[in-house]
Amino acid sequence: MPQAATSPSEDDQLFRLLRQLDQRPDASQRATADALGVSLGTLNTHLRAATEAGYIRVADRNGPDRRQRFTYELTTKGAATKARLTDRFLARKLAEYDALHAELTGTESGLLQLKKRTPLMQSNLAPIPELYVSYDSAQKLKHEAGALPSWDLTQRQVCDLELLMNGGFYPLKGFMTEADYDGVLDNMRLSDGSLWPMPVTLDVSEDFAAKVEPGQDIALRDAEGVILAILSVTDKWVPNKSVEAEKVFGADDIAHPAVNYLHHTAGKVYLGGPVTGIQQPVHYDFKARRDTPNELRSYFRKLGWRKIVAFQTRNPLHRAHQELTFRAAKEAQANLLIHPVVGMTKPGDVDHFTRVRCYEAVLDQYPASTTHLSLLNLAMRMGGPREALWHAIIRKNHGLTHMIIGRDHAGPGKNSQGKDFYDPYAAQELVRQHQEEIGIEMVDFKQMVYVQEKAQYFPVDEVPEGSTVLDISGTELRRRLREGLEIPEWFSFPEVVTELRRTSPPRAKQGFTVFFTGLSGSGKSTIANALMVKLMEMGGRPTTLLDGDVVRKHLSSELGFSKEHRDINIKRIGYVASEITKNGGIAICAPIAPYTATRRAVREMIEAYGAFVEVHVATSLEECERRDRKGLYKLAREGKIKEFTGISDPYEEPKNPELKVETENVDVDNCAHQVILKLESMGLIRA
Ligand code: PPS
Repeated sequence: MPQAATSPSEDDQLFRLLRQLDQRPDASQRATADALGVSLGTLNTHLRAATEAGYIRVADRNGPDRRQRFTYELTTKGAATKARLTDRFLARKLAEYDALHAELTGTESGLLQLKKRTPLMQSNLAPIPELYVSYDSAQKLKHEAGALPSWDLTQRQVCDLELLMNGGFYPLKGFMTEADYDGVLDNMRLSDGSLWPMPVTLDVSEDFAAKVEPGQDIALRDAEGVILAILSVTDKWVPNKSVEAEKVFGADDIAHPAVNYLHHTAGKVYLGGPVTGIQQPVHYDFKARRDTPNELRSYFRKLGWRKIVAFQTRNPLHRAHQELTFRAAKEAQANLLIHPVVGMTKPGDVDHFTRVRCYEAVLDQYPASTTHLSLLNLAMRMGGPREALWHAIIRKNHGLTHMIIGRDHAGPGKNSQGKDFYDPYAAQELVRQHQEEIGIEMVDFKQMVYVQEKAQYFPVDEVPEGSTVLDISGTELRRRLREGLEIPEWFSFPEVVTELRRTSPPRAKQGFTVFFTGLSGSGKSTIANALMVKLMEMGGRPTTLLDGDVVRKHLSSELGFSKEHRDINIKRIGYVASEITKNGGIAICAPIAPYTATRRAVREMIEAYGAFVEVHVATSLEECERRDRKGLYKLAREGKIKEFTGISDPYEEPKNPELKVETENVDVDNCAHQVILKLESMGLIRA
């Protein structure tokens, strides 16, 4: 029977056997045979075949019944197969139900036609398959997994894994295989033909990949080392990241956050294969607001919600959003789910803690029992049209029937030529093309504006002629928050504004980082010291100088000057500076920091909390060498110091620093003063 199940009935037998052993591994053979409705002889045949196929194994006998000869437990392969078969079993039972309903009543059940149904098109309220094994199996697998090679998941991978395991990424059964990945890149389809627009891959380092071969299991751990799942590796390959960037994001341009991530954060090798879920990632924040797809489905079932519109967001909600979402739900005669992303969004976004407090305040503005708020732990890629489609599939999996898609959905902003990456309507267009196949209806996002004379919001295309329209853009809002200016009541709710002001105090009260970069001997440290003294004279905020030499003595004493070590050094400085910035202080950094990508990574780390002011100390190599204050250039020329910046190692000049300072024929005091003026003009210090 069980080997590589072929027919539905064989699949069923195997499924029932695995489920039974999973639930009651210690039951006697007699009890197991009774539960399955087969004779002891047949059970033994099945057990033998399943053992040979590697789905189960004989375990130590530790049950109370001494007459029992063996106990069986599921292997990782068995657990993964059980999850796959559960899924098929449910789909077939649903089809049978459909047919029976039609036969008995002469009418269709309201579910979709059997021949048209794809796995994505099942009823939105029926349970969706998850990849978790039962509690008992999980305990055993966890124990065994302790001995497997283990991979510490990145923040993005934990987000991906959570949605894989809880059914949010259904029909994916694990991290993509190479065939699925190729299909997704080429035509947005998995190898079985299902629509799927976004790669969900497990990227790992070359060192780790060298220790793993297809056929092997690996343990997937969170940042604290907790084992969340087992990956049965079937595929290992080195992707062409430029091709991936072009095909998925439309351009190999690191101004796109996901392309930048792909090239500078993601590992070089991809592993693929089915995942066996052991436990959910742990969240300590907003627990009551986080729902798995099945929890949401059962919530909708319980409340009798049949049509539900999803509103996806990564920004705080203001009055216009409240108006547009309420209107969209009313038009679709549906309930509303505010479904914000709290996993990873665009670098620089308002943090999710603040946003959730804002969403909770806005929730009170909807009529009672019409609207629900649930948090989605998705790691966004800002992939525009493909991402919009992905969001629609994820929402379908969460039991939603409609979704609001707006202008420039999941847009990444401008490319390195200053142009938009995607046409603003491309996302709506792509979702419209595929909505039927996904089984979710797109609701147009109506831009709402405030009409002063009517003291009311209107869709932009329904504004009464001759009236005064008021609007505040995102950029203008940020400016007002930064500068502590008024934010009118017609624009937002007072509770939301209070929350935003708490996390974004006016710039003159926020922390910030001044990051000097330049060649050795360019004058970075001297100017940085002068700046620090001037800032301390002004008072107000604690100030710390992270000078190149000092950092190398205290933070990075074990590091050399290879590219790898320089990157580690700069990222450490960035980390410390980001903590200082977060806590309202001023960090002044003065390393060489020769690489653009690393400086950018540091900028992203810091801009999450405050301003990052890059100052290029643009002293020429000739001048630095002429000064040669430490005598290092001479040694470098003689080959006595290897990998010396500017001589035998590169220095990539900043293209758009906030400030460029020339030091030749300009005294230090003046250079530091230029920085002070820049800080004033940015509102970071008061004149
Ligand atoms: S980096 O690239 O940002 O990590 O360098 P940094 O931490 O700023 O350290 C630079 C100081 O180390 C001394 N030094 C060298 N610099 C460049 N290349 C090589 N190979 C090297 N070896 C030693 C040098 O004194 C630098 O100090 P500054 O203050 O920049 O002159």
